[in-house]
Amino acid sequence: MVQTRPKESRGRSGDTSGARFEIERHTVSDGRSGMIADVRRGLLARPKTLPAKYLYDERGSQLFDQICDQPEYYPTRTEEALLQEIAPGLIRRCSAEEMVELGSGASRKTRILLDAMTDACDRPCYVPVDVSEEMLRSTADALRGDYPELAIHGIVGDYEKHLRHIPDADERIVIFLGSTIGNFTEIEGRRFLRALREQLRGGDHFLIGFDLVKPVEVLNAAYNDAAGITAEFNLNVLRIINRELDADFDLDAFAHEAFFNVKESQIEMHLRPATAQRVTIGAAEIVVDFAAGESVRTEISRKFTKASATALLSAGGFATEAWFESDNGYFALALAVAS
Ligand code: SAH
Ligand code: TRP
Repeated sequence: MVQTRPKESRGRSGDTSGARFEIERHTVSDGRSGMIADVRRGLLARPKTLPAKYLYDERGSQLFDQICDQPEYYPTRTEEALLQEIAPGLIRRCSAEEMVELGSGASRKTRILLDAMTDACDRPCYVPVDVSEEMLRSTADALRGDYPELAIHGIVGDYEKHLRHIPDADERIVIFLGSTIGNFTEIEGRRFLRALREQLRGGDHFLIGFDLVKPVEVLNAAYNDAAGITAEFNLNVLRIINRELDADFDLDAFAHEAFFNVKESQIEMHLRPATAQRVTIGAAEIVVDFAAGESVRTEISRKFTKASATALLSAGGFATEAWFESDNGYFALALAVAS
């Protein structure tokens, strides 16, 4: 059951442009029991895992934003440079009036596309979708100040559950940046794309970022930044579970670990205790034992080739129209169309 709060809808005071600004908030009424079920399933499984979406509370979102600025973390600046190159042509080609962004975060790279869109369209509309409410609200407020002619329809919600709330439009482009698609397994990714496809019309455009396979040293460095921000981000999930589910993880006992698994073509993020740990998750009514050195996997980040990326899109119901790759071959953006 989805509960929707009344929409906030207001024009800017003294606003002459009439650009709409609204934030819609969806919560799954079993939010906490959903988290309990996810955490219980993951921690009772072998090997132990934790679902990645719980990494992004307010602090987690801020830490992720800092990761993007780390010198070792090449994806953000590589994707940003690519967007600078292709944005004007892309917006013209799609003639989109509405841009929907899944997992919008701080919408920083998005500004490149918004610049092109506000130049090219009469009535541009931006629809950011993110689970992190604080991040979505502060970002939407900032954008509203910087783009007075842009209508903004924010959706606080889960892009795996709430895509049907995307407002209808004749010409639409959906964007999914940062290789967030790589944080799903192949099967989850396919399911996610199909669910997205169902909410779109044939001909709608989809711009999606893929992080590509590259030398393993570059990959490992990107997820083990020297400043330790990724480590903090990873450990934050234990802090969240302690707080939300009345658990007693000892944060000092777990160490961040990230490495490239060549066979699966994915970075894996783990938290590994040096000594045996017994953890009580109060709200889940479980006690979990970790042997010394037994890790819990908190995230995967898959690395693609052009072939694996376009095959995934195709399995999800999207035909790849154009493929834009950075000169160093580190990152690509695919422009696809709902087929
Ligand atoms: N697009 C940005 C941020 C990527 S980080 C970039 O490219 O840098 C992933 C974002 O997705 C975070 O802002 C996180 O809060 C959001 N997110 C993660 N899981 C989500 C879910 N299930 N539904 C909606 N948003 C989600
Ligand atoms: N989509 C990002 C990626 O796969 C998410 C990410 C970056 C991430 N750094 C992280 C997730 C560190 C967990 C931990 O690169």
